[in-house]
Amino acid sequence: ANNSGTTATKREGWSSRTAFALAAIGAAVGLGNLWRFPAEAGENGGGAFVLFYILCVLLIGLPVLLSETLIGRHGQASAPESVRRLAIESGASKHWDIFASIGVFAAFLILSFYCVVGGWVLYYVGVFINDLFHTGVMGGAFQGRPAEDIESLLPGLFGDGQLMVGLQLLFLGITVYFVARGVSKGIEWVATWMMPAFFVLLILITVYGFATGAASETVDYLFTFDFSKLTPQVMLAAVGQAFFSLSLGVAGMITYGAYAGRDVNLGKTSGIIASADTAVALIAGLCIFPIVFAAGLSASAGPGLIFQSLPVAFQNMPIGSLVGVAFFVMVAFAALTSSVSLLEVPTSWMMERFDISRVTSVLIVGMGAAVLGSLAAFSFNDMADFRPLALIPLFAEANFFDALDGVTSKLFMPIGALLTCIFVGWVADPKLIDRENGLDGALHKLWRFLVRYLCPAALIGIMVSGLSA
Ligand code: PFF
Repeated sequence: ANNSGTTATKREGWSSRTAFALAAIGAAVGLGNLWRFPAEAGENGGGAFVLFYILCVLLIGLPVLLSETLIGRHGQASAPESVRRLAIESGASKHWDIFASIGVFAAFLILSFYCVVGGWVLYYVGVFINDLFHTGVMGGAFQGRPAEDIESLLPGLFGDGQLMVGLQLLFLGITVYFVARGVSKGIEWVATWMMPAFFVLLILITVYGFATGAASETVDYLFTFDFSKLTPQVMLAAVGQAFFSLSLGVAGMITYGAYAGRDVNLGKTSGIIASADTAVALIAGLCIFPIVFAAGLSASAGPGLIFQSLPVAFQNMPIGSLVGVAFFVMVAFAALTSSVSLLEVPTSWMMERFDISRVTSVLIVGMGAAVLGSLAAFSFNDMADFRPLALIPLFAEANFFDALDGVTSKLFMPIGALLTCIFVGWVADPKLIDRENGLDGALHKLWRFLVRYLCPAALIGIMVSGLSA
């Protein structure tokens, strides 16, 4: 009943099919590809992780992506309301919307720590611009200084809670601004300008890295499959990464699908989104590791990889400051097109649920994320000893930041995806679903099989073994 007030005004939407594809690719491609994927691959043994990751994208991620976008397009409302509409029309309980509501909450949690990392990216844009202007393109102020000087920038930033909070608020503020402008004037605008720029920069830097760095070592590292390294934890990390990267299990793609018109072929578009996202993750690996290996640095540097190892490598190259600026601007663009999608999920739900304006809604959600994000920022310094999930073995050692990241990617996302599969595969009326999915023949059969059987079984298996091991 509470959305009757909002149906009077025409609902917002993407201005074209291309706009939808670009916005969804923008949501998918982000820090998950550039910062998290190389770090996870490096920490989980390289090739084994990468190949299992690709398998997860194809067999689980892609079917779930299609399921989410079709729920949204069918419902033309916020994620929980879209699920509820499909449930009611299928003669099922309206309470199925609970999984989308949990997703909305999870998207909010991700948003809060995502903006902290977005803040680090802005910091490095600043560092390299500063470097460029001090001594010029051919050798920034860094050049010739010991590696520790550059590596110590990150601990320096981590030690400064106020600076981190300030940067996080700046990144969040930019995100809030664009979401406040609306779907086509804000979110779509960001994607249509920043995603093409992103792809140009990515290709330039990858060609550069390949030409000057340790290319063959990288290919060996990323694509040599060692079966013994594929432990349950590595598998759980890989599924979690696949969901994180494709923005699944947290209502994000339901929300974006709800702005798509009838002319979009969701099957085909999902394929394009998943291919682009996976290509960018692999290219990011191919771009980052040669530079890291050529500088004799370790692949398992984890989250420090792009913020410590790469800057050291940039310092040792010709025109390194310029490459540094280009690289971090590229990361910032990708991060922003994803953070706007994260913010849009709770924003669209609140607008509809409480019948409030977009600006009011975005400000409320933004303030919540600012508070939670500040706690995440302080978990690197003032609150470093706080262990919010000390009672859960898998997350016992995690500080507030790692707890947000771990819980969302290893619990919320797989569970959200599992319930999506059960809902679309078993609960929703196939007649309604088949009008939306844009698939026919063998592909349609395959998709139904994956959603009904393989995805739920695989998700349960991977979650149970990964969480209990
Ligand atoms: N897919 C984004 C990335 O790889 O950085 C992160 C993300 C965005 C996750 C939106 C979830 C979401 F709803």
